[in-house]
Amino acid sequence: MDKLLIEGGARLSGEITASGAKNAALPILCCALLSGEPLRLTNLPQLQDVRTTQRLLRELGAQVDADPDAATATVCASTLTTHTAPYELVKTMRASILVLGPLLARSGEARVSLPGGCAIGARPVDIHLEGLRAMGAEVTVEGGFIHARALRLRGTRFVMDTVTVTGTENLMMAATLAEGTTVLENAAREPEVADLARCLNAMGARISGAGTATVTVEGVPALHGAEHRVLPDRIEIGTFLVAAAMTRGSVTIHATGSGLLDAVLRKLERAGARISCGDDHIALDMDGARPKSVDIHTAPFPGFPTDMQAQFMAMDAVADGVGTIVENVFENRYMHALELQRLGADIRVEGNTAIVRGREQLQGAPVMATDLRASAGLVLAGLVADRHTLIDRIYHLDRGYERLEEKFRDLGAHVQRVTRIPQEAA
Ligand code: EPZ
Repeated sequence: MDKLLIEGGARLSGEITASGAKNAALPILCCALLSGEPLRLTNLPQLQDVRTTQRLLRELGAQVDADPDAATATVCASTLTTHTAPYELVKTMRASILVLGPLLARSGEARVSLPGGCAIGARPVDIHLEGLRAMGAEVTVEGGFIHARALRLRGTRFVMDTVTVTGTENLMMAATLAEGTTVLENAAREPEVADLARCLNAMGARISGAGTATVTVEGVPALHGAEHRVLPDRIEIGTFLVAAAMTRGSVTIHATGSGLLDAVLRKLERAGARISCGDDHIALDMDGARPKSVDIHTAPFPGFPTDMQAQFMAMDAVADGVGTIVENVFENRYMHALELQRLGADIRVEGNTAIVRGREQLQGAPVMATDLRASAGLVLAGLVADRHTLIDRIYHLDRGYERLEEKFRDLGAHVQRVTRIPQEAA
């Protein structure tokens, strides 16, 4: 099993280019099921979750021609051979739930294994199912499978009682082929929802308000093929900016839209970073200074993203002062705190609040990744810990970060992927 070996102490500097957004690529790949014509995607990140989604689409009968090196793929779902998404695939990636809406809308039936919980929480999908029922679908859950049927979905007004990103995406996709108009209230406003809507509208859908709390979808009889470029990954961008802040360095990240992560940029400025944004880049410079502690309260977009919480906990662990972190989105997203404590971090977790007292120096040690963003937090801590940090179970990282160690090496970090523990780290 691969591990990441990090020798701490390097100050990051230089330039990298952000990859396409994982959390836009996954729903956009699934929306290809809504049409019988080819959907060509560019700026598609080379990630395990993207490969898993492409496998799932092939299982359903779609043709997927991917060119990972060119970051492109063309999906054509002209003939679907089954409407069942198997447990073997769904259990490895919760986002498989995103085939439910498109499959039901396109073929009138969908059987999707109920995604189980994961390390960060129960992750229910009740709102996805309630929304489809509100659109006239008959939805049952038995034997670990969601079974949805509808000759044709009907437009409706549906208020989501919790802001849910994939819930908004599933229902928005289902509504594109419904009879009549659907209004989704309390919708998720994440940029990835808006990017999905842009792709669907290019396919002939009639969606307005995506990216706001009220999304209106006017149903159409069919969608046609299109081409779409996936937007940059704001969480990857934020992860590298925090790494630069923690190592007191200076980096520029290209091919990124401003406005994708304003709440994160404001927090980095509070930590003492100098941030400058251009049309297609974000630059951060610490002028060699130690970051100051910041307080974090996670919230749906445009609030502070929960997917950046672990990274900021790592920064607070070496910052000047005491930071308070409140995780309001998921009920168990502090697994990384226990691993950071192994590196000497002074963190006290009480319920959904973590108090982080900054230390001048962490000590390298073997640690274990538990989920995607927790792993990122451990990598960042390893960059500033003394001696070596060895991170195990980095398949979590490979799900959501493209060529992570390569990009960190491009910025001067000493990070390598190993399969056994070398003498220097023993
Ligand atoms: C998406 O997950 C992202 N994944 C997550 O990113 C991200 O952390 C999360 O949104 C929040 O921003 C993808 O987009 C593929 P939610 P999602 O539904 O949609 C509750 C990463 O690291 N809820 O917005 O599954 C739920 O329990 C991943 O890239 C219900 O109660 O999250 C949670 O408390 C991790 N019922 C809250 O809503 C439902 O039917 C937000 O969850 C659905 C959700």
